[in-house]
Amino acid sequence: MNQNRILSGIQPTGNLHLGNYLGAINNFVLLQKKFECFFMLADMHAITVNHDPDILRQNVLETASALIASGIDPDTNIIFVQSSVGAHAELAWIFNCIARIGWLNRMTQFKEKAGSNKEKASVGLYTYPVLMAADILMYKATHVPVGDDQKQHLELCRDIAIKFNNDFNAKDFFTMPEPIISEGISRVMSLRDGLKKMSKSEESDLSRINLTDDEDLIIKKIQKAKTDSEPIGPNIIAGTERPEARNLINIFSALTNKKVKEVVQEWEGKIFSDFKKELSALLIEKILPIGKEIKKFKSNKDFLIKILENGKMKANLVANKNLKEIKEIVGLA
Ligand code: TYM
Repeated sequence: MNQNRILSGIQPTGNLHLGNYLGAINNFVLLQKKFECFFMLADMHAITVNHDPDILRQNVLETASALIASGIDPDTNIIFVQSSVGAHAELAWIFNCIARIGWLNRMTQFKEKAGSNKEKASVGLYTYPVLMAADILMYKATHVPVGDDQKQHLELCRDIAIKFNNDFNAKDFFTMPEPIISEGISRVMSLRDGLKKMSKSEESDLSRINLTDDEDLIIKKIQKAKTDSEPIGPNIIAGTERPEARNLINIFSALTNKKVKEVVQEWEGKIFSDFKKELSALLIEKILPIGKEIKKFKSNKDFLIKILENGKMKANLVANKNLKEIKEIVGLA
């Protein structure tokens, strides 16, 4: 059993943003040296909502570019497309028969995504965390780096693993995957509303910094980011009344690797307009080179396809071997 294997996924829905970067991708880059890593483009998760097939295909390549542009080494890590490993769908079905409806009913992300009209949501959106459990357990991953919004899905994955091991008397067959969640900034919030997470699905583009934004756009978005009229002070950390201010301080802290408290102390008594100038400069320094690299890799389709083909081959080797054992345990082989 590999004690140090990572699997994580990103939906290729375009517009990767600062939340994806600080919440997940930055951790992938740091962890790649210590772990054997499987980084997956979750295209099957992306079809749980309405989508355009051509755009999905483009987004798969764009997301692969973003991972490589952010510093993931495609030679030493496995980057693959979820749908290129058929075993995920097979295992998801087996897990659909393990997971309980009551467990899925508790998933807050489904409630948020389905909105007020749950009856019209796809069944796929509902069982989405079960597919996610299949992604992780397929590779017997020991660690899963994700943003805080995926924590509940990870708990469901662990529940499925426990029930599988118990139901089939297969003690320790699945090990319990541990989430790895950034300590400082596990949830980057929208620039327009400090109580909502930064997301690709929020209508206003001003709510997020995309990895492909140019300098002017970054400056504009930070200038327009919602704050309050009070100067920077310790009540940003102590209380809950200044969520937008807290978010900007958190982002600043993540980009400078300084503690939130330290950032507040440094800027105490100052107004947000000065702070925002410095924050824009930090973001430009971090994001712009990544954006340029994304564009460069994206135009090299052959290079990307080769990486994904290689990932497909390596992921299938592990997945098919594990699926065979799982099917035997369940009685399907
Ligand atoms: P997705 O595509 O929504 O997001 C990809 C990663 O980015 C993190 N993230 C954030 N982190 C902090 N602040 C934010 N505002 C923010 N927005 C997104 C997410 O937590 C995630 O780590 N279901 C997953 C994809 C997936 C997966 C998996 C992940 C499919 N199978 C197996 C881990 C393991 C998703 O939709 O992520």
